[in-house]
Amino acid sequence: MKLFIPGPVTVQPDVLEKMTTQMIGHRSNDASVLQERISDNMRRLWNTSEMILLSTSSGSGLMEAAVRSCTAKKAAIFSVGAFGKRWYDMAVRNNVPADLYASEWGEITTPEEVDKVLKTGKYDLVTITHNETSTGVTNPITEIAEVIKKYPDVIFCADTVSSSAGVKFDVDVLGIDIIITSSQKCLGLPPGIAICNFSQKAVERAKKVENRGFYLDLLSLYNYILKKNYQYPSTPVLPLMFGLDYKLEQILNVEGAENRYERHKKMAERVRDWAQNNFELFAKEGYASDTVTAITNTRGIDVKALNKELGKRGMQISNGYGDLKDKTFRIAHMADTQMEDIEELLRNIDDILNL
Ligand SMILES: Cc1ncc(COP(=O)(O)O)c(C=O)c1O
Repeated sequence: MKLFIPGPVTVQPDVLEKMTTQMIGHRSNDASVLQERISDNMRRLWNTSEMILLSTSSGSGLMEAAVRSCTAKKAAIFSVGAFGKRWYDMAVRNNVPADLYASEWGEITTPEEVDKVLKTGKYDLVTITHNETSTGVTNPITEIAEVIKKYPDVIFCADTVSSSAGVKFDVDVLGIDIIITSSQKCLGLPPGIAICNFSQKAVERAKKVENRGFYLDLLSLYNYILKKNYQYPSTPVLPLMFGLDYKLEQILNVEGAENRYERHKKMAERVRDWAQNNFELFAKEGYASDTVTAITNTRGIDVKALNKELGKRGMQISNGYGDLKDKTFRIAHMADTQMEDIEELLRNIDDILNL
């Protein structure tokens, strides 16, 4: 089955094979070497000189960790869909003071709104969803980052779960203190490991936060890694680390990160063209994602039936998320999907729907 859903993605056989590497001791020098190499390569991918933290969890683990470990005063949570709202729920359930600033689904978080909210001086942490997978919207992160830079006491957290490794990030230039991604999207790995950077500014903030929890305490992770030469306090998900190590080498040195971003952009353009010719885009004009396209179901097609028929042909797309089910459907174009795969998918949808 070729997956055109926004994660988990189809994983290449050579990556799966790497993941069956025999175990090493997680307190061995080999583990230190592996984890340091992954960190160095993540730094290259994200263009950051800050510390990299790995988490044996999916991306949600690090989202929860970030808001809990680094909010001393109050968090401003900006939401443009399901995953922004999730970040707010995490704050609430962890007793972290937070306010939610939600835009209509399909819309963006505007830099003006961020400015207005931060100007109140009430907040010392802000969360932005870069690429909202539920709506297929990409927020204008560069413009938002410029605004956040005006507030040096504010920790900038960015959810790039469905965009990192498919879209370029200059993390240090943007000033992102904690950028978060998961393995099962554009990195092209199975689910189970999440990755973030942890800036020195975030370290200093976490020191001032009293109750940071245990497993997801980013400061403890940071301190442990520093002291123990890149080793982790709990047993990490070594198979995914083998896979990530291999995949990063491929992304950076075989395909090339810039080529990978260009491939994602081209696939997105193709899917958007097709969607606009046959349906409509759900995202606000000019803000449609380069990794997943949400399509408004203007023809009232039976999305479930379409997917069933596609399944017989070895392909799968996604229905709309939550309330958007059947009102929209989504085609992901991420990780190692190639333009030929997209052409094959669109040809089959045309055939099934008589477009
Ligand atoms: C934008 C976004 N944020 C956060 C998450 C949660 O990530 P995970 O499923 O890795 O916990 C997802 C998952 O789909 C997502 O798409």
